[in-house]
Amino acid sequence: MRVILLGAPGAGKGTQAQFIKEKYGIPQISTGDMLRAAVKAGTPLGLEAKKVMDAGQLVSDEIIIGLVKERVAQDDCEKGYLLDGFPRTIPQANAMRDNNIDVDYVVEIDVEDEEIIKRLSGRRVHPESGRVYHVVYNPPKEEGKDDETGEPLIQRDDDTEETVRHRLDVYHSQTKVLVEYYKIFSQEDTKNAPEYVKVPGVGSMTDIRDNIFEALGD
Ligand code: AP5
Repeated sequence: MRVILLGAPGAGKGTQAQFIKEKYGIPQISTGDMLRAAVKAGTPLGLEAKKVMDAGQLVSDEIIIGLVKERVAQDDCEKGYLLDGFPRTIPQANAMRDNNIDVDYVVEIDVEDEEIIKRLSGRRVHPESGRVYHVVYNPPKEEGKDDETGEPLIQRDDDTEETVRHRLDVYHSQTKVLVEYYKIFSQEDTKNAPEYVKVPGVGSMTDIRDNIFEALGD
């Protein structure tokens, strides 16, 4: 099972990724999480990425493609993987094809911009695990603490309203074109053409989860 989760910032990719990776026993490869780990570790890549991420811009294709190529070559990806937040540009999608990083499904989670702004202002995350909460829509059992470890939850630096609006602009100008890209690719008569599916991303998280599982052939 090799899947791309496509959708605007805050569409629920990270939330649904938790369900999918558990059900199919595949690793979640989140380029955003990988970059935040590099920022936290203070590596040269992290220092460079932080400025770009805080401004709501995209990190260069070259860096991202290098990270993903290295990650999918690891042993735990043999039975599949879930790509969350990658690809995000046409050059990234082309690089996947050039490097034979194939996928079976491209799942687009569709949510309107105004809903996204409400969601991201209330988001809290557990950085070590990638678990995602919302102060109203999906609160932790104990306020401000991760359900499994009890460790503190944080608010991401790029979740301010101004940066979220900028991230949405970047999504519409650079990433949304991938919807058409994958619709066309899915119609190709080649064995590596993925199946493209669109799932409405508003409503209960478990209903959205069930719709995704159904789309993945469950
Ligand atoms: P990244 O970490 O990938 O962020 P993103 O794509 O902007 O997506 P988010 O993580 O913000 O949202 P999500 O869709 O996962 O939503 P979530 O499930 O958390 O990227 C961050 C930055 O890194 C980028 O801006 C860029 O700089 C860089 N980067 C990363 N990848 C890159 C790449 N490939 N190329 C270049 N640069 C890259 O949900 C959001 C909130 O809503 C949560 O609080 C959740 O609880 C709540 N929620 C979820 N579902 C529902 C629901 N159904 N109803 C109500 N609330 C819900």
